[in-house]
Amino acid sequence: MTDPSGPEQFRVIYPLRSSAIVDVRAEFEHYDQATILFHWTTAVLVLIQWFGAQTIDWFPRGALRVDARSVHITLGLLLAMLLVARIVWRLILGRRLPPAEDGIRYVAAKAAHWGLYVLLLAMVLVGIVLTWTRGDNIFNLFSIPAYDPGNRDLAEQMQDVHATIGWILLAVAGLHTAAALVHHYIFRDKVLARMLPGG
Ligand code: HEM
Ligand code: HEM
Repeated sequence: MTDPSGPEQFRVIYPLRSSAIVDVRAEFEHYDQATILFHWTTAVLVLIQWFGAQTIDWFPRGALRVDARSVHITLGLLLAMLLVARIVWRLILGRRLPPAEDGIRYVAAKAAHWGLYVLLLAMVLVGIVLTWTRGDNIFNLFSIPAYDPGNRDLAEQMQDVHATIGWILLAVAGLHTAAALVHHYIFRDKVLARMLPGG
């Protein structure tokens, strides 16, 4: 039997939330395990990629720097594949939950989620184009010929674009993380829990 005091309880526990209907649906649903795995693997890989890229130039020119750059490119390609798989999963089988917000906060959350998908796609696409315009050597095992070998400017421009998108991605992911933590620690709702394994 359903507990008639359910929605009432939520109004008491979460007074900051404006709609009990949205609350109740949001509190009890949970993302599926594949979506959760995709989300957290992507988040960890983005951080590894961003911080890892800053260390490439710390390595002396030669085999070590080639290896550091090769790790970045290889993980980048892995991230690109994960991203495609994640989007396909979300479109076909992944669980889509009702929005946890309404009004302006709904619009902000939606914009941030769309923005993150677009930035991730842009990041990996520009990364692939950058690798191709530079011409690269992967772990000294095989080489990717440069698209236009004499054209250093093109490669530098691509690298600037890649770095700029990286900063924007980091900023939006930072705001997104802050929003998730505000939900958890200030609104004390289950928005973060529904994206946590077993949460
Ligand atoms: C979300 C994923 C990624 C992030 C956050 C990221 C981040 C970065 C950053 C911050 C830089 C340094 C740019 C600079 O300061 O000039 C960089 C460089 C680079 N990235 Fe990425 N990247 C990602 C994915 C990729 C992918 C998918 C590829 C290629 C398949 C790639 C290839 C490169 C290359 C070739 C460089 C130049 C390395 C060097 O300076 O020696 N990146 N990346
Ligand atoms: C680079 C890091 C991150 C990226 C790229 C990222 C990306 C995304 C994207 C694209 C979504 C939308 C999922 C969908 O509906 O299809 C999402 C949802 C979510 N993310 Fe992240 N995320 C990152 C880091 C984090 C962190 C660090 C946290 C928590 C501290 C977090 C918590 C959440 C939560 C709770 C949701 C579900 C929101 C809801 O159901 O309304 N994310 N994330």
